[in-house]
Amino acid sequence: MSTTEAAATTTRTAHRRRYLMCRPEHFTVNYSINPWMEPAKPTDTAKAVAQWQKLYDLYLELGHEVELIEPLAGYPDMVYTANGGFLIDGRAYVPKFRFEERAGEAPAFADWFRAHGYDTVIPEEVNEGEGDFLLVGDVILAGTGFRSTGDSHREVGEVFGREVVSLNLVDPRFYHLDTAIAVLDPVVAEGQSANIAYLSGAFDDASRAVLEERFPDAILVSDEDGSVFGLNSASDGYNVIISPRAKGFEVQLRERGYNPILIDLSELLLGGGGIKCCTLELRGAK
Ligand code: ARG
Repeated sequence: MSTTEAAATTTRTAHRRRYLMCRPEHFTVNYSINPWMEPAKPTDTAKAVAQWQKLYDLYLELGHEVELIEPLAGYPDMVYTANGGFLIDGRAYVPKFRFEERAGEAPAFADWFRAHGYDTVIPEEVNEGEGDFLLVGDVILAGTGFRSTGDSHREVGEVFGREVVSLNLVDPRFYHLDTAIAVLDPVVAEGQSANIAYLSGAFDDASRAVLEERFPDAILVSDEDGSVFGLNSASDGYNVIISPRAKGFEVQLRERGYNPILIDLSELLLGGGGIKCCTLELRGAK
């Protein structure tokens, strides 16, 4: 039996999630801090809100819980709540944004976490939350190269007392780890290695070697799918919400027994973000 045939017989299980989102009421692109952002290109805030609403509605339909944080005027990137923190077991590690343009979002997220019962940790080091930290089983995969620093990898490891695997991002289009890796099965079943998907060209040779060794069964996505933010997706272990442009990834997911669901956030891509960027997982508390 080929690997694909073996995987297709695997039963996938959807897990209920709790997410934090932020309605893009103030969305626009009036500065550029990643190669996707072109302030000269017009944006349509109403369209951004309508597209975002579809993602929000879908999460509820799938049985997930979605909390909302109030959007702040003057912070058009606040819709990308993945950068608002990293939360495990009721503890929230607050971001310290690389660029001044987003710095004011951090205290708003910290306040929200405190008000919702999280043990809230203010960082010393520059880090952009779940944009660069991904929990896979017990291990934290951590990206660096563009936003979060290597020192934040040490700090996040200390805050959560977990092993951190540092990965170097080298392509400016994939400036956050969640643009280059998708965690499909955060819960690692016994005797199985975790299931992730990644774009190998987004990493340097050393990091690629680490990924190959740790995740021999990973889905390797094509450059074509990676380049349309195909990996910037949200999985509950069975349903995987992806961009409709990621045609090859959709097929790969089906072959592995996942259920891909297409949601188009084309307007939010103008800010350099996609499905995962608009979604922060709330683990613990409540
Ligand atoms: N314009 C935002 C920025 O450059 C987009 C953030 C995307 N977020 C993510 N988790 N990849 O910071």
